[in-house]
Amino acid sequence: MDTKLLTEKDIKEAAKIIKNGGLVAFPTETVYGLGADALNPEAVAKVYEAKGRPSDNPMIVHIGKASNIGELTPRLNSDIVTLIENFWPGPLTLVVKRKPSVPDRTTGGLDTVGVRMPDSPIALDLINWSGCPIAAPSANLSGKPSPTRAVDVIEDLKGKVDAIIQGPDCRVGIESTVLDVSGETPTILRPGIITPESIEAAIGKKVAVDPALYINRPRDVNDEEFKPKSPGMKYRHYAPKADMIVIEGGRDKVKAEIERLRGLNERMGNKVGVILFEEKAFIEAAHDFFARLRDLDREDVDLILAGALSDTDGVGFAVMNRMLKSAGYNIVRV
Ligand code: TXA
Ligand code: MG
Repeated sequence: MDTKLLTEKDIKEAAKIIKNGGLVAFPTETVYGLGADALNPEAVAKVYEAKGRPSDNPMIVHIGKASNIGELTPRLNSDIVTLIENFWPGPLTLVVKRKPSVPDRTTGGLDTVGVRMPDSPIALDLINWSGCPIAAPSANLSGKPSPTRAVDVIEDLKGKVDAIIQGPDCRVGIESTVLDVSGETPTILRPGIITPESIEAAIGKKVAVDPALYINRPRDVNDEEFKPKSPGMKYRHYAPKADMIVIEGGRDKVKAEIERLRGLNERMGNKVGVILFEEKAFIEAAHDFFARLRDLDREDVDLILAGALSDTDGVGFAVMNRMLKSAGYNIVRV
């Protein structure tokens, strides 16, 4: 397939492609998304095919005006309204009960749908010109690190989609927080830069965190107790080509262990890449993490050594969720 490389000047052309059932990759504030008309099951099926994505993994539906959530869900309670007022447009996905008009293809057959209004003028224009909600997973091949720059999208999807809108690098760098508000207790299904603390401050009550997010050893993945409630959380994710080890511990010990591992591995002839963020610089880490992984892949490193971020519930925790998955939970404590 011939993929059109577009810019923000071509939004109307891109919107027409979406409206006609085609696929367009576009920037959001979190990561690039691969979009299709969310209400058109054939169009959504093509997204799964282009990404090589398992079809039971539901998609996030992106809307251009907060009130358009009414096309997807029947009613809003006070928590949901408060969250929309506080965090939209922005990197918070709300999992709500779905209307029957939302295709099974989009929700992976669930009776809920994940919805968000992105904080990006290009994304909002694309949705509003298309005149339909846009289902969009991250615009990477399934299993690869999420794309935060146009070059990353082109690398994965050129030839597989109708068009790619080349916009700016993504401001946030990790995907949205996914919050299930379809039941009694709001529950974080995927951590992001909108933290449980800020959600609690907005709605004035405790939020739960899916226990599956605390897994840090591969064998936990098969524990019934740790079965993730968000289907997407169970797949191998974000994997670089290189082997990857996460090193966790006090700052000095982590640095020393990275040097120790680097030394002998390099003498063996391995090309070694290091990801070590400034201490507590969690926002920067979120912004850079996926881009670093992709750059190291391009440099063809054999081994990536990454320093763990010490954070148990905030933005650093959200980055660690991605880092541990990238490394296949290959972690050493020093
Ligand atoms: O920031 C983002 O959210 C990006 C940009 C493009 O908006 N999108 C994104 O989509 O990360 P994706 O498909 O890569 O991740 C969607 C996640 C998956 O883990 C999926 O299982 C979960 O959201 N999800 C979607 N709908 C759900 C639902 N109804 N119930 C539970 N989890 C849901
Ligand atoms: Mg993804």
